[in-house]
Parts: sequence; C-alpha cells; structure tokens
Amino acid sequence: MKALEITGLSKIYKTKKAGVVNALSDLNLVISSGEVFGFLGPNGAGKSTTIKAIMGLIKPSKGDALIAGVPASDPHSRLNIGYLPENPSFYDFLTGREYLYFIGTSFHMADNLLKSRTNEVLDKMELSLAADRPIRGYSKGMVQRLGLAQALLHDPEIYILDEPMSGLDPLGRALVKNLIKELKAHGKTIFFSTHITADVEAVCDRVGIIVNGELRAVDKVESILEKGITGYNIHVRTGGDISLFSGFDFTERDSGILEFYTSRALFKQFMEIVVHANCEVDLVEPVRKNIESFFLELVEKR
Ligand SMILES: Nc1ncnc2c1ncn2[C@@H]1O[C@H](COP(=O)(O)OP(=O)(O)O)[C@@H](O)[C@H]1O
Ligand SMILES: [Mg+2]
Repeated sequence: MKALEITGLSKIYKTKKAGVVNALSDLNLVISSGEVFGFLGPNGAGKSTTIKAIMGLIKPSKGDALIAGVPASDPHSRLNIGYLPENPSFYDFLTGREYLYFIGTSFHMADNLLKSRTNEVLDKMELSLAADRPIRGYSKGMVQRLGLAQALLHDPEIYILDEPMSGLDPLGRALVKNLIKELKAHGKTIFFSTHITADVEAVCDRVGIIVNGELRAVDKVESILEKGITGYNIHVRTGGDISLFSGFDFTERDSGILEFYTSRALFKQFMEIVVHANCEVDLVEPVRKNIESFFLELVEKR
C-alpha cells in the first residue's frame, strides 16, 4: 500500500523582498507503507517546503500529495499522521503534560487513553521529570523531544518528521534513531528530512536526495552502499607462491600476513592468483564510498 504519493509537486514563493523563489520543481515520489524514507538535502533545498505542502500548511503552485490515498488538501488526511515541524515552538506557558493533553484532545482521544499515552510518550522521550514544568524553561533539545512526543501521542501509522535529529545532543540523536527503528518494527511509515548523511545511513530503507528544489536521486541505502564499492582490502597469508602477486601493492602486516588492495575491476583476477599461488585468505573487506560522498557528488554536480 502507498502511504504517501507525491505527484508533480511544485512551489514558487512570490515575495516582495526575495522576488520569485523556485523552491520545489516537479517532485514525484511514492513512499510505501512500512518504509523509512530519508529526505536528504542541503539547507534551502526544498525539504520543509515539501513537508509543509504534504501537511497542508502551504498551497502547492502545482501538483498534489496523497496521504494513504486521501488528498493533502483534505484535513482528514492528517488524522493518521504524526508531524514534527522544523523548529517547533509551543505555547510555552503550558507544561509539557498540559500541551500533550491539548494535542490529544484535538485528536479526540478519550480521557483515560490520553492520560496513559501521555505518560508513555513522556517516558519514551525522557521528559517525565520535566513534564509538569512550563515549556518556557525547556532547553532546545527538550522542546524537540516534546515535539516528537506530541507526534507519537495518538499512535499514528505515518510519521512526517522535519529534521527530527536537529538540536539534539549525541544521546538525543541516538534516542531518535532508536525510536525510528522501533516504529519501523511496528510497521509504521516514516518520512523524515535531514541534512546529515549519517542519519540516513543509520536508519533508512531508501533515501531521496534533493538539491535546489529538484530530486536528484532516489535509491535504496543498501544499493548506494553496494554501488559505492571501489575496491577491496585483502589479507593473504604468506606461505604460497607470493611472487605471483607482483603488480599488486601490498603492505606487510605482523604474523605473516600481507595486506593487498585491489580495485573492484581487478578483484576477480586477484582471486584467481590467490588460487594459483595456493595462498590462504584471512580477510576480504570492501572499501566503499559512503552516502556522504555520494551526496556530495550529487550536490556538486552542475
Ligand atoms: N515563505 C517563504 N517565502 C519565500 N521563500 C521561501 C519561503 N520558505 C522557503 N523559502 C525558500 O525556498 C527554498 C527552500 O526552502 P526550504 O524548503 O525551507 O528548504 P530546506 O527545508 O530544504 O532547508 C529556500 O530558497 C528558501 O529560502
Ligand atoms: Mg527545512
């Protein structure tokens, strides 16, 4: 089933100061139910514009988004969504708990359920101790975690999170990554934006890379990593006929092991020599470009 279907989505902002800004051009994207999708792009790429259009917070200049088959222009489409805005700011005279009650009430949650779910999500986001303090005294990271708590509150099927890891310390980032993994294990769909490639590598099934309002690539994280293999480090035990390896660079490791590097193209040839030379192989380790270099190459193109 399709959790999200974005078709020809475009947004042109017209402002007095900045003039015409082409923020998003003809975005087409389908997110399957149960998928974790990372929407990766540098600042100003159009990520938040896309998310705001999905959430019905801005009107697209062209195109449409369907949420579980319901058009984004219909408010009912959002009943089953947990949304974290970028830079969340809340009524800061309320306590965290009061804010969650307010949100739960707007989702028509029954009193008992709302009370127990509030405790659960406060606990999950490690906010229990601060729950009855006014939000105005919260740190940036705590506000971000309260933002996640309110997205979780009504236990929605689809999560749309705009830079969920931003403003968090390493512990907070780990908390969010674990949360995403846990939601995925429960079959939830997660669409989140980020400008940090490591976040994508850690939790996503697929990644879409957006630059200057254009989607430049969409691929499985696994296959980007697989395609990014440039060569191999191979540890060979001295013992066989080592002279056969002339032409390949190696460094001598301790305890009679030679470490070779071979390009991807020469890997097969190298392994044939291993067989002829009657050598033992201790380790074969792919040397790969990570998503960071894939991302940078795409951003720097043009
Ligand atoms: N309300 C607005 N008015 C004018 N330009 C805007 C507005 N919101 C965003 N933009 C511009 O649209 C582009 C995309 O912004 P945004 O979607 O916020 O990027 P991202 O979330 O990827 O950092 C940027 O050039 C930004 O300056
Ligand atoms: Mg943004």
